[in-house]
Amino acid sequence: ESKRPPEPTLPDPGNTILITAGPTHEPIDAVRYVGNRSSGRLGVELSDAAARAGWKVILALGPTPLAPSETAVETHRFQTTADLGALLAEHQPRCDVLVMAAAVADYRPARPLTAQQKLRRTGDRLVLELEPTPDLLAQCSARRRPGQCLVGFALEPRAEMLSSARGKLERKGVDCIVANPLETMDASTIDAVLLGRDGSERHTGGPVPKADFAPWLLSAIEEARHATQP
Ligand code: CTP
Repeated sequence: ESKRPPEPTLPDPGNTILITAGPTHEPIDAVRYVGNRSSGRLGVELSDAAARAGWKVILALGPTPLAPSETAVETHRFQTTADLGALLAEHQPRCDVLVMAAAVADYRPARPLTAQQKLRRTGDRLVLELEPTPDLLAQCSARRRPGQCLVGFALEPRAEMLSSARGKLERKGVDCIVANPLETMDASTIDAVLLGRDGSERHTGGPVPKADFAPWLLSAIEEARHATQP
């Protein structure tokens, strides 16, 4: 007799998942920004997989050429950390699960020039002063409603991946955190662990293509969610 693959854990009917994806761009002047190498691919794959699995999906998507292929995904675009903060304030109350896959800036130019101004070359050294951005995930955690499940990401050097991710799980007050090594950024595969607040660890067991990782992670989140809140 052939062995059947395990049944995927399906969402409860009508459940809404809010996914954030992609980098942030923090303006320096009219034409320049501080950004990062995130492609947003993982969050877009997650959105498509969630829509196919029956979730109502809201995607907050940063500056990337990628877009979801499932037409049912409700997509809102952002550029800056502040834009994303506003989208989260608007849409978080509607969601049952928030997956914060966006690579949000930790610092942004403290005094950006306006969209009409451009920094000129002078030949002198230029110091760009940065200020810290708000921790959006911690803000979401502070205003969550009961039963809402918050999932963060932690991109870490492999050697300290699990300990650092556990620290973030506590610090940000989230239910789960996806720990993945630095090499994941911009790559087509991912080798990750979903850490739960209850001490649980769910491993992919080696690098998997991001398209296969998406349904794996959705099932793992649902398992973790129902293990703690029956
Ligand atoms: N995050 C956020 N707001 C920020 C920075 C990060 O919501 N200003 C979120 C990310 O989307 C991710 C999680 O927090 O889900 C962890 O991000 P990471 O950059 O790894 O953690 P930091 O708190 O920024 O810690 P560090 O840079 O020291 O690793």
